[in-house]
Amino acid sequence: MLPDHGRPAAELLAELTALRAADLPVRGGRVTAYVYDTGQPEVHEAAHRAYAEMLEVNMLDPTAFPSMVALERRVVGAVAETLGRPGAPGIFTSGGTESIMLAVKAARDARPGATRVVLPVTAHPAFHKAAHYLGMEIVPVPVDPVSYRASVPAFEDALDERTALAVVSAPSYPQGVVDPVGEIAALAASRGVLCHVDACVGGWLLPWLREAGAAVPPFDLAVPGVTSISCDLHKFGYAPKGASVLLFRYAELRRRAYFASAAWPGYTIVNATVQSSRSAGPLGGAWATLEALGREGYRELGRRTLEATRRLAEGVRKIPGLRVLGEPEAALVAIAGSPEVDVFVLADEARARGWFLQPQLSYAGIPANIHITVTGVTLAGVDAMLDVIEEAAAAARRRGPAKVPEGLPELIASIDLDALDDATFAELAASAGITLGLPDGTGPAAQPGTPPETAPSTAPSAPSSTTPEMAVVNAILDALPAATREAILLRFLSVTYSPPA
Ligand SMILES: Cc1ncc(COP(=O)(O)O)c(C=O)c1O
Repeated sequence: MLPDHGRPAAELLAELTALRAADLPVRGGRVTAYVYDTGQPEVHEAAHRAYAEMLEVNMLDPTAFPSMVALERRVVGAVAETLGRPGAPGIFTSGGTESIMLAVKAARDARPGATRVVLPVTAHPAFHKAAHYLGMEIVPVPVDPVSYRASVPAFEDALDERTALAVVSAPSYPQGVVDPVGEIAALAASRGVLCHVDACVGGWLLPWLREAGAAVPPFDLAVPGVTSISCDLHKFGYAPKGASVLLFRYAELRRRAYFASAAWPGYTIVNATVQSSRSAGPLGGAWATLEALGREGYRELGRRTLEATRRLAEGVRKIPGLRVLGEPEAALVAIAGSPEVDVFVLADEARARGWFLQPQLSYAGIPANIHITVTGVTLAGVDAMLDVIEEAAAAARRRGPAKVPEGLPELIASIDLDALDDATFAELAASAGITLGLPDGTGPAAQPGTPPETAPSTAPSAPSSTTPEMAVVNAILDALPAATREAILLRFLSVTYSPPA
């Protein structure tokens, strides 16, 4: 794989461009998950340049590179000022998952012996991951079946002296609704339990939506009882990936997130994050994005996002066979189907028309749906998006629901996946019509739940014969229990990252 002789930069960049031709486009608004586009190229350009400027600064040692301390103070300061507690202590991390990992670690170390994390079933799996890594236990509680907000009585039953942390989302990713932060934080405080608000997706959006006239309930550090909050700048902050801020109510709690070690004969280690050596590029990119947009820029993005979300939800409600789940309070819209309109087929049909809509599997009594993250760029194309959803829904109605081969979910659930090697697993999948892996080492992978083909820059008018059909894969996964879904997904990853046969 490694060439014997070095190659010129221009050739390498051309190769990257060629490889990226198989990716979903990161700009333009036709990919309604993963990417956040302001629709203002000059803002992203400023971030790229600042990212490159800071790229080789190592955040391992603040005494060696004071520039990154100055930048982190500014970025954390801006977030603290906006999220209800100017001057609150914080940490700049690589993303929502790392912020959550550190919030859970701080809570664990603050209440020795308490090992439980109580959260609504709609909370992000990063908490499950944190609990898994940190030797803690998750106690899931239900959400209201109509509003999809966390049930306060269920929290009342679950919080006790074994609880290290209560978690609420503002908003939750699956349906974009804000949990009753005030009630649950007060309840937690009354039991001596810390309370984390996962505002990873909403922390840098809800304040601007509120300024644009949306009825946003209190959710931040100004709410009594909230002891930490995570806010990802690489989502609605529109910064390049690798940027999140975790804020704490008290410096003592932040210290619980830190780690130091002098237990070796090398350089002393003191880390604010899970990573040790890490690039300051994301910090530079995040700072530049905040500065390039400023309050006015974010306010305008919030206004556009609010209008696009309202128009999208209203439009979807008029399409026969579709419904919006809950009342979206941020810019995340979940659209469920009906017996006549299968959302997985709809997603395939939209994909064939050049749009990526993210499928979400059913869970805890919440039906399968497609998820749309509305961003700054969406408003300009919201009518086109609605047209595509309507056309794709009509096509899905004509095609009928995805057919799961009879007995297949039961068969899969009965297989001991640990007893199969990756090659046998891939063969089994192929016999069910599902191709996994990258045959030539360069092509796109078929990720369950995520169709892999390139979204064309211009929408074809009819489904293309080359568009992969993911509806059956999604329908099979949907019919399986969560533990089996997880086992299959892990195996999928292993096959994907294996050398081509
Ligand atoms: C509510 C919420 N929390 C946490 C995360 C995890 O963030 P990341 O993917 O940056 O680790 C996400 C990601 O979408 C999210 O929506």
